[in-house]
Amino acid sequence: GIRIGNVAAGGGHFDDEGSTDPFFGEDGYQEHLAAEYSSITHENYLKWEFVHPEEGVYDFEAADAVVEFAQAHDMDVRGHALSWHSQNPDWLEEGDHSPEELRGILEDHVRTVVSRYAGCIQQWDVANEIFGDDADATIRDEENIWIRELGVEVLDDVFRWAHEEDPDALLFYNDYNVDGVNAKSDAYYDLVQGQLERGVPVHGFGAQTHLSMNYGFDETYQENLERFDALGLYTAVTEIDVRGDVGEDDRMNDEDRAGAAERFETVLQACLEVDNCNSFTIWGTLDAHSWVPGTFPGEGDATLHEGDYERKPTYCVIQRTL
Ligand code: XIL
Repeated sequence: GIRIGNVAAGGGHFDDEGSTDPFFGEDGYQEHLAAEYSSITHENYLKWEFVHPEEGVYDFEAADAVVEFAQAHDMDVRGHALSWHSQNPDWLEEGDHSPEELRGILEDHVRTVVSRYAGCIQQWDVANEIFGDDADATIRDEENIWIRELGVEVLDDVFRWAHEEDPDALLFYNDYNVDGVNAKSDAYYDLVQGQLERGVPVHGFGAQTHLSMNYGFDETYQENLERFDALGLYTAVTEIDVRGDVGEDDRMNDEDRAGAAERFETVLQACLEVDNCNSFTIWGTLDAHSWVPGTFPGEGDATLHEGDYERKPTYCVIQRTL
């Protein structure tokens, strides 16, 4: 059946004082996660800047803790992310490595991280956000160091290296603004189709699903998942939250709240309808730890719980839909 998940840790509030992460610092947070969810994602700790802070140096302390927690509570883990253009360490982005060196660095990273968690992390976001937001959904061949320096073909190898280290792990693409049949999801469809023809071990397509009540909702959401399903891929809702403009009380108005609940319900329903849609991950469990207010000023109210773990009406809608 479907696993309902949540980001575990890394509320996005990393400053000079370190982490104010609720996973490590907040009483009741872990108990809440274990009680409410059956899968979990590291919000930040498996990203390069955390797990690979210096050249040749890996730091698994925080990432390990989340995986151990998941195992202790019989939860699945979605690993996020093996390659991305964002949250890379300076030594990588500002280093002057040759393409050959970069290839070695990437291979070592993928093999080291995936093998460490073989059997413990069931799904990996192998390539995150590789296409841009422009009308043509151009591949990010400027921003993404791997694609810029090594060409998009390197992704075939990234999937292969990951597969060799854990043949049971499901290997995903993951992106935002692919919440329907559009130029960006078309670009993924074409890329994946080509890779499958070449025998590349790609297994899944993840729609992050960061929605805002300030934008419309694409009614082709389910149709999009279905076409990837028909390619033989798993699909997943990997980072859903539905934000909107909030007032002084940090809440949306009633109309937007009702609209947000409806979108959660529609997306969950879509995932339940699509045969191999296998997980539904909410990006943050409590508004207080959500990335939304920091990233989209004036917006919030995007998760299922507010205040002191109080369930919003949206929570009940999800419960009912399941
Ligand atoms: C966000 C985290 O939630 C923040 O804590 C961090 O500061 C920035 O990244 N798409 C992704 C996620 O794939 O990794 C992003 O997570 C949200 C958008």
